[in-house]
Amino acid sequence: MTERQKRGLVIIALVLIPFIIGPLFTYEVIKIPFLTDMAEQPSVGSQEGPRKLPPARAVPVQGISVIPEEFPVKPIPADEVSLQRGEILYSIHCQICHGELGQGDGPLAEYFERTPQNLTTDQITAEFDGSVYLTIVQGFGQMPSLAESLTPRERWDVINYVRTLPPR
Ligand code: HEC
Repeated sequence: MTERQKRGLVIIALVLIPFIIGPLFTYEVIKIPFLTDMAEQPSVGSQEGPRKLPPARAVPVQGISVIPEEFPVKPIPADEVSLQRGEILYSIHCQICHGELGQGDGPLAEYFERTPQNLTTDQITAEFDGSVYLTIVQGFGQMPSLAESLTPRERWDVINYVRTLPPR
């Protein structure tokens, strides 16, 4: 073996060493006790008690965003601006299910077991605006909650507009 070949072998061996030693650690043939402070700190694991109560007066981020005792009362008058905004918002957020004129005949209507309500029937027009508001916020049956799509102001605009739809 020439001097040159020997040197080549040494270099190849040096290059391969990390690839042989590395897996020994990876597969824990040689174990190193790594610090695991995160796992070992005193803490409550998932599905373990005791559950801590939220601080007093914390704001809920899930569930209804209306305090049950406070039935919502409409603060926005049905003026021209509100109705204009309501019409646009209705066409974006409600029309797809409830139909152009609120008759419950939108393009998605047939996909529901209980079809979207006709919003111009006595049953709905007799409802308080606050009930419709809660329907928008909480959803109703198969109707999803639209709380994240509409700000409170926008919900009232939609309600103002829905009230102007001609009865069927
Ligand atoms: C994804 C489809 C969908 C959208 C979007 C939708 N609805 Fe509905 N809505 C429904 C369905 C379905 C029902 C009937 C649910 C049932 O009876 O189980 C319903 C029911 C209702 C009711 C009747 C609730 C009651 O008390 O009887 C009102 C009011 C209503 N929707 C208003 C709205 C308004 C306002 C919007 C827009 C901000 C809207 N919906 C958007 C599907 C939808």
